Amino acid sequence: MKGDAMLDEKREQAMKGGGEARIEKQHEKGKLTARERIEKLLDPGTFVELGMFAESRATDFGMDKKRIPGDGVVTGYGTIDGRLVFVYAQDFTVLGGSLGEMHAQKICQVLDLAMKNGAPVIGLNDSGGARIQEGVDSLKGYGEIFFRNTIASGVIPQIAMIMGPCAGGAVYSPAIMDFVLMVNGTSHMFITGPQVIKAVTGEDVDFESLGGAMVHNEKSGNAHLYAENEEEAIELVKILLSYLPSNNVEDPPEMPTGDPPDREDYDLDRIVPEDPKKSYNVKDVINSIVDEGTFLEIHPYFAQNIVVGFARMDGKTVGIVANQPAVFAGVLDINASDKAARFIRFCDAFNIPIITLVDVPGYMPGVEQEHGGIIRHGAKLLYAYSEATVPKITVIMRKAYGGAYIGMGSKHLRTDVVYAWPTAEIAVMGPDGAVNIVFRKEIKNAEDPEKRRKELIEEYRAKFANPYVAASRLYVDEVIHPHETRPRIIQALHMLENKREERPEKKHGNIPL
Ligand code: HXC
Repeated sequence: MKGDAMLDEKREQAMKGGGEARIEKQHEKGKLTARERIEKLLDPGTFVELGMFAESRATDFGMDKKRIPGDGVVTGYGTIDGRLVFVYAQDFTVLGGSLGEMHAQKICQVLDLAMKNGAPVIGLNDSGGARIQEGVDSLKGYGEIFFRNTIASGVIPQIAMIMGPCAGGAVYSPAIMDFVLMVNGTSHMFITGPQVIKAVTGEDVDFESLGGAMVHNEKSGNAHLYAENEEEAIELVKILLSYLPSNNVEDPPEMPTGDPPDREDYDLDRIVPEDPKKSYNVKDVINSIVDEGTFLEIHPYFAQNIVVGFARMDGKTVGIVANQPAVFAGVLDINASDKAARFIRFCDAFNIPIITLVDVPGYMPGVEQEHGGIIRHGAKLLYAYSEATVPKITVIMRKAYGGAYIGMGSKHLRTDVVYAWPTAEIAVMGPDGAVNIVFRKEIKNAEDPEKRRKELIEEYRAKFANPYVAASRLYVDEVIHPHETRPRIIQALHMLENKREERPEKKHGNIPL
């Protein structure tokens, strides 16, 4: 066979991947094939494949008889909403999507092109991990990918979609990338699987409870997004991309939303309960101030005492970081600090202004937190805010106590504009705690200790637990009515549009890890 006919046949063979039977098996599991996924992800007809005829050159363990064109991964580029993206999708029907030398080289080629062209990369992972038959060549392949993921970090957005197994060291490529999305029931991530765990620690665990989508979304925090099925996952990634610039020297895309920038919401004036111990849902505040319907929460199941996500304000992407009084009173703990710090660093790397909404009673007390390293984890938040040079706007809604006040985007960490609501309480600690420490003796010796305690709490509240002392020192730029929040933030965003702020030249900082 010659010429065109040979090419057509080779293409046809490559398109079949591991063959009809394996494709059927894939479908039976509720999974799409690599090509079907790419087809749904990219704008119709835009996919351009690279390396279709790449083949393994391994010969050991019968590999010379198992060569399949493409080597178990479909790679290339195309567009999403008209914007260039690079993709690779592992093909589980070919040797379980396992990663050998050429398979890795194809992924590396896509990462290199994405870097040269300043476009996001999306990896669709569905793989049994390192291809056992290719030994150290597959380990080298992973190393090359991890290196490229690291170099690309902060230059182009990297999104990992976990669409099947992602086992062993293979998990570290997604872990280095910016966003990890998992699909309910079919995607699993773990370093060692149930059998090895049973052998080493004696624990009985199945794939789902070890490394299923909700486990990593809720408990470990390894995954940032959760989808019920593959279609939902693909739609979610498209939405996510719509907020992001293609690279670190571009601004995020602008999308007019029709929501007036001067819209005021008087419901906000009543959102903070009079009783300081009562909570409210900060997502109501977020949804009220951003362009209608544009809030995309990231990490919605993990460390819910802090809320992070993207939204649009006057059509432009912003990153939101907000304490959530409805969960553990919005306290900062290890996981909340990690979650917020990583999100802030992403925003800073990709020119996305950061809006911070503060209602925080402090850092979480407790032996578990102390021994778990809340000192170094909490430090990440201070570091991330201090390091960030994108426009930063903070609104203090209610409590802003102690170190958490400083950590939540305070003026002292070079936030550009700080607003406070009249309900803001900015102090070293809350009235109850402060009075118990400062006036312990006075209360003890009082004729009616309880009455005196209450009087002192009121005195403290009037003197310190308000925004005016901070405003008098310019730590707060302005005290505003809650209903004015959206217009004020948008005005500040416009004012800061050309903000330039330099940090000293250095190789890199040393964020507490
Ligand atoms: C070669 C592999 C493979 C691998 C699966 N296959 N994993 N081939 N290397 N790592 C092949 C199988 O032999 C089988 O081939 C086909 O893929 C489908 O696999 P099944 O087991 O039939 O599928 P399923 O029952 O769905 O189970 C999927 C699985 C399981 C859970 C992923 O295959 C599995 O446990 N694989 C090994 C996972 C693992 O431990 N990998 C190494 C991790 S260590 P046939 O021809 O029979 O269809 C690692 C180190 C990386 O990755 C280090 C980087 C730093």
